[in-house]
Amino acid sequence: MSLTPTRADKFSFGLWTIGYNGSDPFGGPTRSHLDVVEAVTRLSELGAYGLTFHDDDLFDFDSTDAQRQTQIDRLKGALADTGLIVPMVTTNLFSAPVFKDGGFTSNDRQVRRFALRKVLRNIDLAAELGAKTFVMWGGREGAEYDAAKDIRSALERYREAVNLLGDYVTDKGYDIRFAIEPKPNEPRGDILLPTVGHAMAFIQTLERPELVGVNPEVGHEQMAGLNFAAGIAQALYQGKLYHIDLNGQRGIKYDQDLVFGHGDLYNAFALVDLLENGSPEGGPVYDGPRHFDYKPSRTEDITGVWDSAAANMRTYLLLKERAAAFRADPEVQQALAASRVPELAQPTLNPGETYTELLADRSAYEDFDPTPYFDGKGFGFVRLNQLALEHLTGAR
Ligand code: GCO
Ligand code: MN
Ligand code: MN
Repeated sequence: MSLTPTRADKFSFGLWTIGYNGSDPFGGPTRSHLDVVEAVTRLSELGAYGLTFHDDDLFDFDSTDAQRQTQIDRLKGALADTGLIVPMVTTNLFSAPVFKDGGFTSNDRQVRRFALRKVLRNIDLAAELGAKTFVMWGGREGAEYDAAKDIRSALERYREAVNLLGDYVTDKGYDIRFAIEPKPNEPRGDILLPTVGHAMAFIQTLERPELVGVNPEVGHEQMAGLNFAAGIAQALYQGKLYHIDLNGQRGIKYDQDLVFGHGDLYNAFALVDLLENGSPEGGPVYDGPRHFDYKPSRTEDITGVWDSAAANMRTYLLLKERAAAFRADPEVQQALAASRVPELAQPTLNPGETYTELLADRSAYEDFDPTPYFDGKGFGFVRLNQLALEHLTGAR
């Protein structure tokens, strides 16, 4: 298996990731602005297949129509020169002062109408560039104080907004689906739709739920103390994994946006194993972009920026190679069987069986002996996990 990224791996990067200039709440930039043409050129050389962006990453919030068009044309030129594509586009509804209380759910109705117009304009651009996914990260959709936001009204306004966007792409005939990106907090004290589970429940309330899925980010679920790979499994189970943001996070703290694998490496291994080997036939279970949403640390110079971009892709490919070795190991297969992992795929009831037959089955209850489960009948999960660790560390 090759560790050199190719277009077939579908690796994509946000323009705001490699373009991060190092600003944080405690200090200003440590690097100068990265031009979009250089970004596309370097990503292409490194083996990525896609660039994604917020409108404001490409052209300033207050740019004139002419300035906006110049930047779009420069991007298009770089895409044509390299063959890179734009698989996803998103809208910045969080940086400008006007969005300080959110976009779709600001208490200020004029702001909500402005936010909708900004998104509609950007959806037209997404369609023009051939993007298939439109991400909605509502970083400012939330509050710091309980009395400041009526959460039920806010959810209703969120729903109103997403329903309108669904009408728009349908009427325009755009081949675009939406992906909601959950995050528990930061920049708001509490953000609406804080986890994958919240977002998937919300999606079921929409008028066109089939147009809307999730864009889970590794670090965001981990900021809430959740198991990312398990959340992805549920999103897949519900047919809602429309996009994914890969990065690294070390525990419950501020959003670190580290390189993929530079946080919980075990869970990154489980994730890649799921994405690449999770189908019943043992093949890939997700065929969308492997999108990196990380920040090159502000300690790095431009060499470090490109090294870190390459590190994301190399880590993914290393984990893919390790996960394949794990699955191919006969001892792992034996351990999985001993742990009865495949048995969970077997329905609990016999074909056509109802509770009447279950109640009549003495072997299920009256004659069943639960006592051997004390001092016996262990599942062997620890041995299985150690085998995973040995493959992950290259010991096997
Ligand atoms: C974060 C988020 C953002 C969003 C991006 C898309 O780190 O808080 O990941 O980077 O993904 O802004 O809108
Ligand atoms: Mn993040
Ligand atoms: Mn993200």
